Parts: sequence; C-alpha cells; structure tokens
Amino acid sequence: MSWSDEPVSSDIEQIQKVLRASQRLPRHVAAIMDGNGRWAEVRSMPRFEGHRAGMESVRSVVKACSQVGIEYLTLYAFSIENWKRPAPEVRFLMSLLESYLRKELDELHANNVRIRTIGKTNALPRGVEKILQKAIDRTAANDGLTLTLALSYGARWDIQRAMQVIALDVRRGKLSPEDLTEQTISEYLQTSYMPDPDLIIRTSGEIRLSNFLLWEAAYAELYVTDMLWPDFRDKDLYNALLEYTQRERRFGKTSAQVDQGKRSPQTTMERLRNALK
Ligand code: FPP
Repeated sequence: MSWSDEPVSSDIEQIQKVLRASQRLPRHVAAIMDGNGRWAEVRSMPRFEGHRAGMESVRSVVKACSQVGIEYLTLYAFSIENWKRPAPEVRFLMSLLESYLRKELDELHANNVRIRTIGKTNALPRGVEKILQKAIDRTAANDGLTLTLALSYGARWDIQRAMQVIALDVRRGKLSPEDLTEQTISEYLQTSYMPDPDLIIRTSGEIRLSNFLLWEAAYAELYVTDMLWPDFRDKDLYNALLEYTQRERRFGKTSAQVDQGKRSPQTTMERLRNALK
C-alpha cells in the first residue's frame, strides 16, 4: 500500500506540508534508538517487549521520513558492543530484525525505499544476512528514502577497517600518502554513499554518540529527547525536524556569512509544535 494513500489527521497533514516545503529540511537524519529496556522495565515487562514496541517506532519513523522527503535515514539498530548482551536478548533482536524485513519489505519497496546496511554484517546469523541481502537487492534501484540499518556497527570499527584498506592501497601504489584528504577518508568508510548526517536524534536523555558515525557527525546537529524510543513516533520526529529547521548551522563561519533560506516565523512554529502535542 502506498503511504500517500493512507489517511492522516489534518494537523499532521499541515505539518507534513510545511516540512515538505521547507528549504531547511535535513537531507540525512540518523537516530540512536535508546530506552527500549527502560520502557519495558517501567511497565514491569520483560526487556524484549521494549524492543518489540521499538520496532513499531521504527515503522512509524521510516514512514514519516519518507512522507516529508527526507533522503537518508540511518538507524542504529545493533551496535558492535551489543553482542555482549545476554544471548537470549541478542537472539530476540535478531529475530525481530528478520521479522521486520519479512513483514515490511513489500511495503518498503512499494514506497520506493532503498535499504542499505553498515556494520560488520557478516557477523549476523545466516538467516538475517540472507534476508538483508534480499532486501538490499530488491530495493537497490529505488530512489526515495535510503534507509540504512546500522547492524553490528561501530564507528571506530569502520574507521579502523578503512585505515587498513587505505594502508594496503598505499602499499599497492593505488594511493599516495600526499593525496590523502578528508574526502578520501570519507570515501573509504562504509558510509561513503550517503551525505554526512545533518541531524542526529537520540532518545532516552543520554547525551552521547556511543560510537555512532563519529567521523560523519562532525557538523551534525544533535537532538536529545527524554522520551524512550518505543514512545517516539511520527509526530515526535516532526517535532525534531521543526526544531532543526529553526537552528542556524554555521560550519565554523559567522552568523552573517551563512544564509540557509528563510526560517518560518516563530509564531508559525509555536502553532505547529502545539498541534503536535
Ligand atoms: C537500545 O535500547 C536499543 C537497541 C539495542 C536495539 C534497537 C532495536 C529496535 C528499536 C527494534 C528493532 C529494530 C529494527 C530495525 C527492526 P536499550 O535496550 O539499550 O534500552 P535501555 O538503555 O533502556 O536498556
């Protein structure tokens, strides 16, 4: 089913319209989806129920990004450090990922979403690896939202891996050390196909990057909310986007030097954000 045919409330419709028309929308949004465990604990539920509810937030946020024309969404779904969690929790997360792809692939494809992954994905169970590859292959030619799942991912791992390949290419004579620029480093990272993130959202109130996109996040705007990931849905994403459109990104320049298109008047912003409450 095409997401554009689904009915939405008039408030959401109006906010989507404002965001779509904004010249200040981020191209690339990334999210550190934190707080699933706590969400379950406060409800006296087992942790895996938090992950299950977190998957519903994934569905909601992917659709919401696609509907306002975000080009790239990167979700930190499983860090390289997450392998240290108890085996039953790891198994549950893997099965959740598999069932997300099984259930959602047709709909993602129908809505022009391109699926990619970053991370040490050969460490994933065979079944998960296979369905991921199927999703990547099937959606490869789509040119709507690029949804990247960071799986078994660590930014330091990717930087280390890139450095090894760079060193090998220098040894093979393919690259000379004098030609090594920041751009070259970006090109050797697994994230080379995406622009740097403009906005990184982190839920559950923790103010850190936790080994996520460390090189790429150099100029990203950070948006931290106390909400736990399973409570974070489309309207919360729109709230973050509205706040982002009001920020001034200077990239080291002065305020007078930057011109990023007109911001919406403060009164319009307040009205829109109130409508999201
Ligand atoms: C962090 O919460 C979340 C994770 C380690 C996993 C994220 C997974 C999902 C949102 C569901 C499945 C994802 C996809 C892409 C289908 P936490 O467990 O660390 O929470 P806590 O800090 O409260 O314990």
